[in-house]
Amino acid sequence: MKIDVLTLFPEFMDRGLHTSILGRACNNGLLDVNIVNIRDFSDDKNGRVDDYTYGGGAGMLMQPQPVYDAYMSLKKDKKCRTIYVTPQGKPFTQKDAVSLSKEEELVFLCGHYEGIDERVLDEIVTDRFSIGDYVLTGGELPALVMIDAVSRLVPGVLGNDTSAEIESFYGDLLEYPQYTRPEVWRDKKVPEVLLTGNPKSVAEYRKAKAEELTKKVRPDLYEKYELRNKEIDRLLKDKRNNIQILESLRRGTGEIIHTDPLVVYMACDDLVMVDIDAVMDVDEFMALLPDNIHSIVVSKEFGAVLRNVPGMMYSCDVYNYVYTENVHRKIKNKDIRKLDESFADYVGNKYALGGYDYAVERLKAGVVYGIFVDDEIAGFVGTHGEGSIGMLYVDGKYRRRGLAADLEGFMFNRDLEAGRTPYGQVVLGNEASMKLQDKMGVYGGDKVLTWLHM
Ligand code: ADE
Repeated sequence: MKIDVLTLFPEFMDRGLHTSILGRACNNGLLDVNIVNIRDFSDDKNGRVDDYTYGGGAGMLMQPQPVYDAYMSLKKDKKCRTIYVTPQGKPFTQKDAVSLSKEEELVFLCGHYEGIDERVLDEIVTDRFSIGDYVLTGGELPALVMIDAVSRLVPGVLGNDTSAEIESFYGDLLEYPQYTRPEVWRDKKVPEVLLTGNPKSVAEYRKAKAEELTKKVRPDLYEKYELRNKEIDRLLKDKRNNIQILESLRRGTGEIIHTDPLVVYMACDDLVMVDIDAVMDVDEFMALLPDNIHSIVVSKEFGAVLRNVPGMMYSCDVYNYVYTENVHRKIKNKDIRKLDESFADYVGNKYALGGYDYAVERLKAGVVYGIFVDDEIAGFVGTHGEGSIGMLYVDGKYRRRGLAADLEGFMFNRDLEAGRTPYGQVVLGNEASMKLQDKMGVYGGDKVLTWLHM
């Protein structure tokens, strides 16, 4: 990911960005950070970049020209997300971090003094974020906070395979208290249950502690947690038709932004999933959606109405399928390997539905697996951004050998190991996939869902 930072204090940013995990990510090329000193673009002979505020008021304001020229020096050919860090911005959350981590390039603009002339902000800024209800002396620390939160979501930065995937738990609970050696310190003993080695009791203890802590310290979060559990219980009554929403709530990747109808937002894909049987007023519905929405998954009935909204593009109709058996599938052809970007052409050209760029994005996320016969690639499978298994493809000459079943079974096993319910969606009319699902013993939905893009 490329990150440009516009600041009056480059040495401050430089130190922060080149230390610890961010420093390592810069050194190994996962982050390409470019720090630009706004003062270098001052037209003033003394290098001034600030002036008094029109209308009066305490303090100085940064002038538009040096900020604009510093931004223009980046020569962005398309407008990439440009974040102005300011106490007047929207509160920055994990959801925003996820959404920003999907971008290839970001620009951070740090203000100083009383802020920056509004005219240049209007011209170049796409997002305004605050890190909290307090005022700092400048934007450098908040920018570092946001860059840190975004960067750790970039595949590879944490140096841990699973971190590249979507399942990281962003649930609504605070983390439980943790302990390390020694077992007794100043007469205080580590809770007994943590020494039992019984994973079930440990998990139950930790959950209870996390709930207790959250209820006490963050009642607002606890309320969200309870609401999520209530919706999960309701959706479970029709698991096969609701699995896409259920899994996003259970994996912690989806956030409830409205109930009745239930609208779940997934920042990882700028996607909303809607649980709606009836048709509602389109304007009312659109008002529920956050900015930057790219996709909507909705019942076929409401999808038929939304398709007519200007700017909305119909993508496809699908059925869910859910692997409900909690048993690992046996895999016959065992040479299945994670694919990297060197397979961009192979995967990109064969995965027609999503297109080349999407396939490359999935490869970069580290969630595409290839099956090999005699060391030659014969097909692949992947996980979509929202968590469903898909992208399944087997080369013509390798068909009828059970490779598709092995690829799908392999993905089922991965999900089961991570405690997820494996599921996917089949596009209506894809007879080959329908047949495969029957063979795999999966449980198909009977409601058609429509995917729309905007
Ligand atoms: N600049 C000064 N204070 C800030 C804050 N709380 N968040 C973001 N930017 C800031």
